[in-house]
Amino acid sequence: MNGPETSASSQLVAPAPPGLARDRLIVALDFPTGPGALAFVDRLDGACQWFKVGLELFLAAGGSVVENLRNRGYSVFLDLKFHDIPNTVAAAVRSVAPLGPQLLTVHASGGPAVLAAAAEAAAALANPPQLLAVTVLTSMDRFQLASTGVPESPADQALLLATMADASGIHGFVCSPEESPRLRATLPQALLVTPGIRPAGSTRGDQSRIATPSAALAAGADYLVVGRPITQAANPVEAARAILEEMSDRT
Ligand code: C5P
Repeated sequence: MNGPETSASSQLVAPAPPGLARDRLIVALDFPTGPGALAFVDRLDGACQWFKVGLELFLAAGGSVVENLRNRGYSVFLDLKFHDIPNTVAAAVRSVAPLGPQLLTVHASGGPAVLAAAAEAAAALANPPQLLAVTVLTSMDRFQLASTGVPESPADQALLLATMADASGIHGFVCSPEESPRLRATLPQALLVTPGIRPAGSTRGDQSRIATPSAALAAGADYLVVGRPITQAANPVEAARAILEEMSDRT
């Protein structure tokens, strides 16, 4: 697929063509320790190819967990959601790039100067991660968004942030399945990564803007991020396989 595996720079992105479901499912490793996370990866026994390392795991285990996953041949989405001044975000991109993640997040709400600095820092690297701009967190509904001073709907705000990020040099986005169709229509070349995935009958938890795996793919997502529906399942391998099967019908 024309995704992060084949893209030499963060500037070259294309929507994912139909492909293997296993290459489009990212399991969120939200665990409190490195050994615990890696034991879970072992438990999946190769069912999944992509893993997301977020703040909880990265702060507990450091970069070694990313290197460990890469050394085992897995693909890594490093979801640290950088949100700081341009100089600091650019430096942070340079700091984590040697760990070898294929995907790396920056908050779009940092604004054009931050996003341009991140894109420039990545473009100057020999083997850059694909940058993703986080639009509106999938946990936010319109009331939470309004509480932060943003009167727009999550859908309008996500489109505004994605369009601004695209103009600033970042062409991949984290958005909810609800916004994917509009983002895809407006930015056809965008790489869309969607959390907020809930298989039918699973618990919503703290997520607000959700969809099933098949609905998220139908909405235009390239990659799906799934955490608790797999990590908290009584049988994680079975849960992952069921999601992959549902995705396969769409890929
Ligand atoms: O457990 P669950 O499937 O809700 O996990 C979703 C993962 O995606 C979490 O690791 C969360 O940090 C991440 N994420 C998100 N919404 C975003 C960006 C990232 O839920 N907008």
